[in-house]
Amino acid sequence: MVKDKVCIVTGAARGIGAAIVKKLAENGAQVAFTYISDSSAEKAAALENELNKDGIKVKGYKSNAADFAQCETLVNDVLKDFGKIDVCINNAGISKDNLLLRLAPDQWNDVINVNLNSVYNMTKQVIRPMIKARSGNIINMSSIIGIRGNAGQASYAASKAGIIGFTKSIALELGSRNIRCNAIAPGFIETDMTHYLKEGTAADNFLKDIPLGRFGKADEVANLALFLASDMSAYITGEVISICGGLSI
Ligand code: NAI
Repeated sequence: MVKDKVCIVTGAARGIGAAIVKKLAENGAQVAFTYISDSSAEKAAALENELNKDGIKVKGYKSNAADFAQCETLVNDVLKDFGKIDVCINNAGISKDNLLLRLAPDQWNDVINVNLNSVYNMTKQVIRPMIKARSGNIINMSSIIGIRGNAGQASYAASKAGIIGFTKSIALELGSRNIRCNAIAPGFIETDMTHYLKEGTAADNFLKDIPLGRFGKADEVANLALFLASDMSAYITGEVISICGGLSI
């Protein structure tokens, strides 16, 4: 579905990002992905080793998506290594949950920086080669929390709602250049980020609001990312697509 497309995926040593890298590579894409910490380097190398075969190139880059200059370097390096950029998937994200009464300025700033500023940083860099190529595709990882909010997650919700406004604006700005921009809004997906929710009453409370009665899997989000990255979604732009087992109903 994405044969020979060059895709960048940020924050992809584990979780949803890693699932997307696998899915894209298994469907014929050439994939550049990022990780942030030295402790992720081993996982990134394992992902490369697993997927680099049969003419598929997968390469990990240590790069902080919250740092504008590092994103500029990354995009230049990917262009050097892969020759073009067809798809950029802005997946990197963190949560530092706290009730507003206790939410410190640095907790707020960290979340906005990593989740929202990163999307600006990367998109700003990739649109230049995309405009030149008269074709491009940007996919931003929002969240159902960015649509409905959640007590104790004001910074996370604000960052993910910001991504939605950004996504629609870029779709409007760049549609005439044949550049699409969509957002994915996952519900509760089983990853390290939501690990702490899986036990006790919090999990039961969430589960009773999910019509499908279970948390989602990273691979299921990767299926949606694959669809949006492929030409099967060629007439879709500016959309926010929920993948949440019905939680948003
Ligand atoms: P995760 O915590 O397993 O993975 C996030 C990845 O981003 C990690 O590998 C982390 O090292 C990387 N990262 C963090 N800061 C970074 C930075 N500054 N630069 C580059 N990489 C960075 O989380 P998960 O669950 O895989 O989340 C992926 C995305 O999906 C995030 O944007 C998250 O907000 C979003 N999401 C996740 C949901 C869930 O239920 N797991 C629900 C809705 C959205």
